[in-house]
Amino acid sequence: MPATPGDRDRPGCFVTFEGGEGSGKTTQIARLATRLRGRGFDVVETREPGGTPGADALRQIILSGAAESLGNEMEAILFAAARLDHLTSLILPALARDAIVLCDRFHDSTRAYQGSSEGADGEFLQSLEDATLEMRGPDLTLLLDVPAETGLHRATLRRSGQAVDRFEKEDLAIHDRRRRAFLEIARQEPDRCAVIDATGSADAVEAAVDAAFRSRLPHWAGADAAGGERREA
Ligand code: TYD
Repeated sequence: MPATPGDRDRPGCFVTFEGGEGSGKTTQIARLATRLRGRGFDVVETREPGGTPGADALRQIILSGAAESLGNEMEAILFAAARLDHLTSLILPALARDAIVLCDRFHDSTRAYQGSSEGADGEFLQSLEDATLEMRGPDLTLLLDVPAETGLHRATLRRSGQAVDRFEKEDLAIHDRRRRAFLEIARQEPDRCAVIDATGSADAVEAAVDAAFRSRLPHWAGADAAGGERREA
C-alpha cells in the first residue's frame, strides 16, 4: 500500500513552510514547534539555504550575491548542493529517529524563485530537483500566502536599517511572479500543499497553521489534538 502523507509506517514527519518575503514563516515555525513539543513530539526546526555548516557556508555565498553573476542555473546548483547536505546530514537522521522536522523553505522555493526567473531551464531544474528529492520529500507543505506588497512592507519593517539581500532587493513584479508560482505549485499538488492566508494576525495564522497540520497529518496530531480541533470548530 502506498504511504499516505505523515504515515506512521515510515519514521518521522517532514513539513516545509513556503512563501514570499515577509510571509511570517519564521514566527509560525517557532509557534508550531512549541505546540508540537507541548504535545510530546521531538521537533527539529531548520531552514534553507542552511541548516548544516556546509549549507550555511553556501548560504553566505548565495545571499551575499557573490554567485549572482554566474547566472540562474549556477545559483540553482548551489541551492541544490546546500539542500543535499542539509537533507543527508540533518533532515534524514532526524526523521530516522522519528522526529517532526519543520523546515523554513525547501524545493518549492527553487521552483518559485529560480524556476520563475526569465529564461529558466525547466528541464535542468527538474533534474536537479529529482537528484535532491529522490531520498525523501515533504509530507506536508504549508504555503503562507500574502500579497507581494504586504510581504515586502513587513520585510522592510523587520529589517530596520539592515541591507537587503540578493533576493529581497528585486522589484514588486518579480515578488508577485514568485507568489503566483507558489500558488500554482499548491494548485498542482493539493495533497501535499495547504495554502494558508497569512495576511491576518500572527495568532490567526497560527490557528490556521495548526488546523491544517492536524487535518492533513492526523497521525501526528498528538493526544490532545482531537479536543483542540473540536474546540476550534
Ligand atoms: P532568508 O533570509 O532565509 O529569507 P526568508 O526569511 O524570506 O526565508 O533568505 C533566503 C532567500 O533565498 C529568500 O529570498 C529565498 C531565496 N531562495 C531561493 O531563491 N531558492 C531556494 O531554493 C531557497 C531555499 C531560497
